[in-house]
Amino acid sequence: VTLGLDLGTSGARVLAVDATGKIIAEVIKTHPLYTPQPGWTEQNPQEWWDSSISALGEVVEQLPEGTEVLALGLSGQMHGMVALDAQGQVIRNALLWNDQRTGNAVEKLNSIIGKDTFIARTGNPAITGFQLPKVIWLRDEEPENYAKVRHILLPKDYISYRLTGEMRAEPSDASGTNCFHLASKQWDEDILGALDIPVSYFPEVIASDDVVGRLSAEVAKQVGLPAGIPVVAGAGDNAAAATGLRISQDDIHTGTLSLGSSGVIFAPLTEANPDPQGRVHLFCHADGAYNLLGVTLSAASSLQWLRDTLFPNHAFTQLTEMAAQSKPGANGVTFKPYLAGERTPHLNPNLRASLSGLSLASNANDIVRSVLEGVAFSLKDALNIIQPLTPLKQVLATGGGSKSDLWVQILADVLEIPVLKPAYVQGAAYGAALLGFKVAGFPLPEREPAVHTTLPQNADAYREGYERYVGYMG
Ligand code: XUL
Repeated sequence: VTLGLDLGTSGARVLAVDATGKIIAEVIKTHPLYTPQPGWTEQNPQEWWDSSISALGEVVEQLPEGTEVLALGLSGQMHGMVALDAQGQVIRNALLWNDQRTGNAVEKLNSIIGKDTFIARTGNPAITGFQLPKVIWLRDEEPENYAKVRHILLPKDYISYRLTGEMRAEPSDASGTNCFHLASKQWDEDILGALDIPVSYFPEVIASDDVVGRLSAEVAKQVGLPAGIPVVAGAGDNAAAATGLRISQDDIHTGTLSLGSSGVIFAPLTEANPDPQGRVHLFCHADGAYNLLGVTLSAASSLQWLRDTLFPNHAFTQLTEMAAQSKPGANGVTFKPYLAGERTPHLNPNLRASLSGLSLASNANDIVRSVLEGVAFSLKDALNIIQPLTPLKQVLATGGGSKSDLWVQILADVLEIPVLKPAYVQGAAYGAALLGFKVAGFPLPEREPAVHTTLPQNADAYREGYERYVGYMG
């Protein structure tokens, strides 16, 4: 088998996958999230390590006698900053991907380097959640901590460091920092030089399916594995999840649409061609090529907010049944889902949601439907930027929200592309385990055919609604 470890925001998930691609063991262990101030999000890397090791140990216990573990691959939440001192010790809690404290740092970066330069060299403008603005924040706000910094790692790369003693990065996650040069696939020495940040703080970059190092004897003993198992660099969680669904440059027509707390469209690319305005993210994919990523921050969490706030006794299925009683276009009610600000296309953490177009005739069904539609419209904003850059023709739907047939139909109608339901979805940990297949010598399993395809049926009915959506101020 190979093992896959995904270091998520809510917990660490470890899977064991056999040579045919079948999952034979799985364990999740949670870790806490800290919000020391509004808009700040942090986690303690030691607590990541504890949950990772405990999940790993329990998976190993579940393996049948005699199972040989040939590799351990990683994936994880992107963009976070783990700052280490000269001894490799953690200096302070990690700042996370959804932390919003770096507004000033982003402005500073854009004025020193320039937005266009950032986009041309790294694929993205400076963005609040990315790693480099966090480094600038640390230097400006906690100079005593910054003075101790000798190494800066991404979250999952900290785990591979603890597993092996070796510090490495790989392109899919490194390209989410704002200081990774896309063309050379190396840290951008010009950008770092202009900012006076030593490039030596960043680890050597290897390919996503390359080996970081060998499992140390000490950790091996702790988790019940033999020492020396190869630990594979892996990928950021979106690239790993896409790898799990076999989304790659081999078929650039097929991407994914994830309806989790946030909503994400992942489109594979062969060339690094970013949106000139940087409204969708461009990252390296784990297959050696690239991908575009459109993110709406509040997807299923918009529906959850509506439920918790206005319909606390309703199950989600009751809400979608209510929405089905309304009509495409929600009788003129429009919801903009910017409950937590927005990434694509606005890149503005301060935007707020709105409900508009209400009349005396509007009812609760219309309001619920407007939330499902508003999330779809927000993803349409992303798709409208993606489609001129790459011929994305269909998406595999994943995430909790994709359980609703109505929501999937609304998405197919609004996006005007087929939405496919994959045979199974195993998430980022599965992709991490597949990234270990090369060193294990296993052939990659083929993608299973989709079990259901939802075709656009009602596109016309939503065009007016989308225009209304775009027209309302956010
Ligand atoms: C991607 C992003 C999130 C995190 C969450 O840009 O910020 O998907 O990787 O885990």
